[in-house]
Amino acid sequence: MKFEGLYEKTLVLIKPDAVQRGLIGEILKRFEMKGLKVVGLKLMRLDEAVLREHYAHISGKPFYPGVERFMMSSPIVALCLEGLEVVEAVRLITGVTKARQAEAGSIRGDLAMSVACNVIHTSDTVENARAEVARFFKPDEIHDYDKSEFVHVYTEDERV
Ligand code: PPS
Repeated sequence: MKFEGLYEKTLVLIKPDAVQRGLIGEILKRFEMKGLKVVGLKLMRLDEAVLREHYAHISGKPFYPGVERFMMSSPIVALCLEGLEVVEAVRLITGVTKARQAEAGSIRGDLAMSVACNVIHTSDTVENARAEVARFFKPDEIHDYDKSEFVHVYTEDERV
């Protein structure tokens, strides 16, 4: 496959606030419009064990119990997206964690005001993305298929 080293997968969790507010379609639309390929998609409920693993870096913080209650308060949507350098691209579309400071045009910038209820989680590094996709998706829940990205007329030596 051309550009093989540049293709990545990343994890997005559409959080309970977005599910409750009816924003699943809006958020999915933004990723699809950007040209990203949806290779995994499911509605699921999270439990304490998976949340403690997923949020290990903040599990000692005073606000962690609230994060756990919030993330279990309704189903979430787990998405696995694939594309060229997709981890960084998705972080740019996401906007910063504190949603009221997120840039206009980003998902958090347009749809949220809170640090905690900031509509989506997205993997922050390629290494974390690999671990997070494996945490939320079994191998047979990731679906490979062809999708035109309009870059295949270029050779591998040319910039895309
Ligand atoms: S990030 O985006 O992962 O780099 O953000 P980070 O600053 O590491 O925060 C990790 C998650 O913790 C949540 N968070 C908070 N929740 C409640 N109160 C406070 N003060 C707070 N600070 C951070 C935040 O929503 C991040 O969740 P994710 O799912 O990573 O967006």
